Amino acid sequence: MTAFIDLRSDTVTRPTEAMRNAMAEAEVGDDWYGDDPTVNRLQHRAAEITGRQAALYLPTGTMCTQIALHALVRSGHLVVCESTAHVCGMELQSAAVLSGVTFQPVAAARGLLTADQVAAALRPDSDDAIVVDLVTIENSHQVGGGSVQPVDDVRAIAKACDAGGVPLYLDGARIFNACTVTGATISDYASEVSAMMFCLSKGLGAPIGSMLVGDADFIREARRLKILFGAAWRQAGIMAAAGLIALEEGPKRLHEDHANARVLAEGIAELLPGSVDPAAMPTNIVFADVSGTGRSAAEWVDRLAAEGVRVTIVAGKVRMLTHRDVTAAEIQSALAAWRRVAAG
Ligand SMILES: Cc1ncc(COP(=O)(O)O)c(C=O)c1O
Repeated sequence: MTAFIDLRSDTVTRPTEAMRNAMAEAEVGDDWYGDDPTVNRLQHRAAEITGRQAALYLPTGTMCTQIALHALVRSGHLVVCESTAHVCGMELQSAAVLSGVTFQPVAAARGLLTADQVAAALRPDSDDAIVVDLVTIENSHQVGGGSVQPVDDVRAIAKACDAGGVPLYLDGARIFNACTVTGATISDYASEVSAMMFCLSKGLGAPIGSMLVGDADFIREARRLKILFGAAWRQAGIMAAAGLIALEEGPKRLHEDHANARVLAEGIAELLPGSVDPAAMPTNIVFADVSGTGRSAAEWVDRLAAEGVRVTIVAGKVRMLTHRDVTAAEIQSALAAWRRVAAG
């Protein structure tokens, strides 16, 4: 048991008892040879629920995306993405070092690119100096406040990509949070894109792992790149066993995280008017702009930590994520801590 309320990320959850039992009993093999039955079951299930031909189990979402970039983008060519997307922020160096790839960032409200923006970004360069090989979108969008793009908007972007002759990749690290809001299924989103990834280790609550999904040829190449990047992780079925539970059970309870986030957002908005717009944060991510409080974001982080609440700073704001290991009562405790810090 931890003594603090950890809102730094939805990656901080501990495996459930069911996951630990499944891990202990997992049937395993050597994944380099493709004969770990539990990994294969997880990959099969991910392909099934996305309605795509194949899936690959990888240690991180970052590795999924870096493998996709390596497979789909020629060194020296560009990727169009939203300017605050994870791929061109946290993964900028990875793309440069691993694949010689960089980005053409486009700023969009709440992180959500429009089809018009994508079409404009794909207009051919008459000097042939700028070549775009891929468009990426992120849904839900983390820095955008967990903002959600409906399937119709993704379809419109896919059409623009099609017209430009460029594939579309979805960073669906938190796609199930988006599905919870829109009521769409993951296959509704997966069918609109060339390839996508989603994380088991975020809101779904698995200790480790993400899935890269797409056509059989793409996943065959991705598997080769997985080995090239050093991720042939042998008896990974121990982890995949927890991943299978996360995939089946995790999506069903995300609405609880969203409700907790809403209570948190509304509580902070009431305490510090103008700092949070709860309506703009439909999933499990809350950003508070504390610039009007006379204290820096770093001071808020330290003072909240002293009150037993862990938060972090992203894009200059205090960021909090709700997840399986934080209860509604703990959200009330976190709000009480915010009030004590505000008063102190
Ligand atoms: C939107 C988004 N994409 C990708 C990632 C990368 O996932 P991982 O931490 O598993 O590499 C994250 C991680 O926080 C994320 O928030």
